[in-house]
Amino acid sequence: MKGIILAGGLGTRLHPSTISVSKQLLPVYDKPLIYYPLSNLLSAGIKEILIISTSDNILLFRKLFGNGESLGINLSFEAQDHPNGIAEAFLIGEKFINGDDVALILGDNIFYGNQIKNHLNEQKNKKCHGAKIFAYKVPDPQRYGVVEFDANFSVVSIEEKPLSPKSNFAVTGLYVYDGMVCDLAKSLSPSKRGELEITDLNNLYLENKQLEVLLLDAGTAWLDAGTPDSLLEAAHFVQTIQNRQLIQFGCLEEIAFQQGFISVESFKEIVDDAPKNKYGDYLRNYLKEISN
Ligand code: G1P
Repeated sequence: MKGIILAGGLGTRLHPSTISVSKQLLPVYDKPLIYYPLSNLLSAGIKEILIISTSDNILLFRKLFGNGESLGINLSFEAQDHPNGIAEAFLIGEKFINGDDVALILGDNIFYGNQIKNHLNEQKNKKCHGAKIFAYKVPDPQRYGVVEFDANFSVVSIEEKPLSPKSNFAVTGLYVYDGMVCDLAKSLSPSKRGELEITDLNNLYLENKQLEVLLLDAGTAWLDAGTPDSLLEAAHFVQTIQNRQLIQFGCLEEIAFQQGFISVESFKEIVDDAPKNKYGDYLRNYLKEISN
């Protein structure tokens, strides 16, 4: 399975902070926002990843990650210079996907907990049929794609940012599709706001009876960091989890090692260059643990 991180958009809800830099490069506590969705893909063992962003920001992402070699992954980049919608990722990324299964994650979504990881890991080892999306109970569904269920809890439809939501289940920014996704995305027309909507794509799969909606339970925390308030909330969340659980959430180097993407020797090289701060201390301690 391949992975795509969509880190485009103008980040207008975060202006002026995002006039000169991509939202996904803003810090969420101690690391750039994009570390979190990238860590979700790595934890699921996905190592062929395409980052889609604006041309200007691609230079910055390259500065941050290079081609992913130091993490034992393969990172490529494609530009989306106009905010033409999430589903455009499958037109831009068609060559990269090359008919494989693909997990798309939005660059401003943060998932904490094992449910997603376990699910993607399970999925990775068998061929995907249709689409899988993940829904999460929220107090403010009108901000999101919303799932409508019938009396038997079967999915009836998905509505994008409805004024009167038919449930509290928001569609999160993680989507898994089979190899048909690029062809289906090509058949979409822009919505009233001029975008190729991910919700329209999901509704196509639903019409074909090929959409599975998984409900995330309370063991998963889902945050999006697209507004000043949600960005700050996410930072507090990461701070609390890290300080109380003595872990580093979204530590790419640790995950790359755990997944077997890099050897102990490569991990040692990373540690040699690690910053003299808490993040670096964490890596140094982790190296001690695995060397014992
Ligand atoms: C997008 C999708 C929406 C989804 C949300 C998750 O919204 O259009 O269906 O629920 O991501 O973060 P946007 O970020 O464009 O407001």
